[in-house]
Order: sequence, then C-alpha cells, then structure tokens
Amino acid sequence: MTLEWRNADKTYGDKKAVDHFSLEVSEGELLVLIGPSGCGKTTSLKMINRLVEPSSGSVFVDGKDVAGVSATELRRHIGYVIQQVGLFPHMTVADNVAAVPRLLKWDRDRISARVKELLDLVGLPADEYAGAWPSRLSGGEAQRIGVARALAADPPILLMDEPFGAVDPLTREVLQREFLRIQSTLGKTVVFVTHDLDEAIRLGDRIAVMNEGRLVAAAAPGELLLDADPFIRDFTGEDRALRRLARLSVGAAIGEATPIAAAGFNGEGGTPAGSVRTDATLKEALSMMLEAGETSLEAVSPAGRRIGKLTLEDLLESAAGTEAS
Ligand SMILES: Nc1ncnc2c1ncn2[C@@H]1O[C@H](COP(=O)(O)OP(=O)(O)O)[C@@H](O)[C@H]1O
Ligand SMILES: [Mg+2]
Repeated sequence: MTLEWRNADKTYGDKKAVDHFSLEVSEGELLVLIGPSGCGKTTSLKMINRLVEPSSGSVFVDGKDVAGVSATELRRHIGYVIQQVGLFPHMTVADNVAAVPRLLKWDRDRISARVKELLDLVGLPADEYAGAWPSRLSGGEAQRIGVARALAADPPILLMDEPFGAVDPLTREVLQREFLRIQSTLGKTVVFVTHDLDEAIRLGDRIAVMNEGRLVAAAAPGELLLDADPFIRDFTGEDRALRRLARLSVGAAIGEATPIAAAGFNGEGGTPAGSVRTDATLKEALSMMLEAGETSLEAVSPAGRRIGKLTLEDLLESAAGTEAS
C-alpha cells in the first residue's frame, strides 16, 4: 500500500509542529523519517493512523484520504511499534502477540499457529517464550515482541517510532539487522522514525530529513550523503564519507552487484587473512585494510570462491561515486 502526506500541517496554539509536509511513500518502501528532537517526526507519523488529525492538508493511505476512513478500519491495515513497546504486563508473550488477531476474532488454532510463526520470525522460539511474562524479557527481546505484535494481523503498513531507541547499541544493531531480514521477506510499506543517522543509513531505502516541521530533503542514503544543502551537510556530519562506505558492498566496488549481507558480517566468520567477503561493506573492508596495513584485499564470495581484488583505489573511487544507494 502507498502512503502520502499532501501539504499536511499541524498547529498547536501558535506553534507549527508540522508545516506543509508533502511526501509519498511507495509500496514496499522503507522510508526513514529523521531530524532533530521536536522537528515533527512523531506528529507526522501519527497522522497516518489518525492518532493525530492534520490542521490542514491531507494524508492518503492506498490512495484514500484517511479523514474519510474510520480509525478502527484504518488501524487494521497498519502495525504500530513504539519505543517503550507497551506490552501488556499481565499477559503472556503469546497473548500479547495475539492481541489483534483476537480483536479480529480469528479462531484459536489460527491464532496459535500465527503466534508461533511470528515468534520464529523474530528469533524467539515459541517453546521458550510463548508463556513468558513481559517483565522477564530483556529490552531487545521486548522490542522483538513489539515487532511481532505489530505484524500479527499481517498489516501491509508498518509505522515504527524510534522502535530501537531504548536498547544498548549492540542489541540495537542486532535488531536493525533482524528487521532488515524480516523486511526483505515481507516487503511492508514502512515509515521508520529515528534520530540516529547511522540507523537511518543502515535501514532506509530512502531517508526524509525534517527540520522545524518541514521536509528538508528526501533521498536514498548514498545520495543524501552527497547533498550539498548546508543543513543536510551539517546534519550528516564530518564522517559522512565513512557513512557512505557503510552502505556500499565490496562486490559493488569491484563491479559485481552484491547486496550487503543482511545477517551482518564484520570481517570475521572464517575468511582467510587478507581476504574480505563480497557481501561485506566497504567500511568493514577499509577497517580490515587499516588493521592489516594492506592496500588491497582478496574479495571472496560468501561461499569462499575468489572473485577478484579490492584495492584501496577501488574503495576511494566508490566512496566518491554518485551511483550509491
Ligand atoms: N499534543 C501536543 N500539544 C502541544 N504541542 C505538541 C503536541 N505534540 C507535539 N507537540 C510539539 O510539536 C513539535 C513536534 O513534536 P513531535 O512530532 O513529537 O517531534 P519529534 O517526534 O520529531 O521529536 C514539538 O515542538 C512538540 O513539543
Ligand atoms: Mg518523536
């Protein structure tokens, strides 16, 4: 399903929380909404599921103005994940995940099969977790359950408001990678709010940058990091070049279209010294070069087959390129 904000405004008193916001999200796209605290990200997000009504302008879901769709009907098609998850404390994990299917009056067998499937999907085995209480979960586990719960009725749209904001950086990276894996199989239309640029770059098909209620730019990560706009340059920081490297694969730099490993690869995992996998990022490759004091590495396929050589020059050329995404 597609999404669109068209000249959406939200005014609180005399303050414009969202100011003439216009943006379209295509079917299956993972759009990241980013910007400084208070810039209007949450308000814009909540316009989609009618937790906030625009003061003027419109929001369209699947081509329909949401103002004319009942909030209940609308939210059936929209999963919502927030930072502090909000799991129901007096319900087991299974009952939490089953909340929406129950509202939709699915039969028991269908619900329990779905719960098991979702727990598997988010990497928490049902045998171990279905009967667990939310208070016993780690922060990362609770967020995974939050994602499972939002996906329960298989909504085509997923809204995520800083979903991984409250977990430690390592867990956060694991959750991001897992979410990318899930998204690569489910292909939901996702709006993901964050104020963390690295998270935006890692996850986004496209990144929309907001400031003071307004949309400043919307572009693929690689493009955004080359944007000359002063606010964007400032926002993306001095290490924007390194950040670009984190979005490019070794394979792509040597002319073999290779996606970055969704499962994550950090230069370990059994590749011989002096070699790097084609599905590693160029940032990882650069780090390996620096560590080894080498200006080139053997590029090998994930299966261990030698593909070619990655030189520091290839790497620099890719970093300067414009075709990154
Ligand atoms: N219910 C509200 N009443 C008054 N002001 C609000 C309300 N919700 C948000 N705001 C204000 O609108 C601006 C944008 O808020 P928000 O969308 O939550 O920003 P973000 O999610 O980017 O941090 C902020 O200045 C915030 O204080
Ligand atoms: Mg917010």
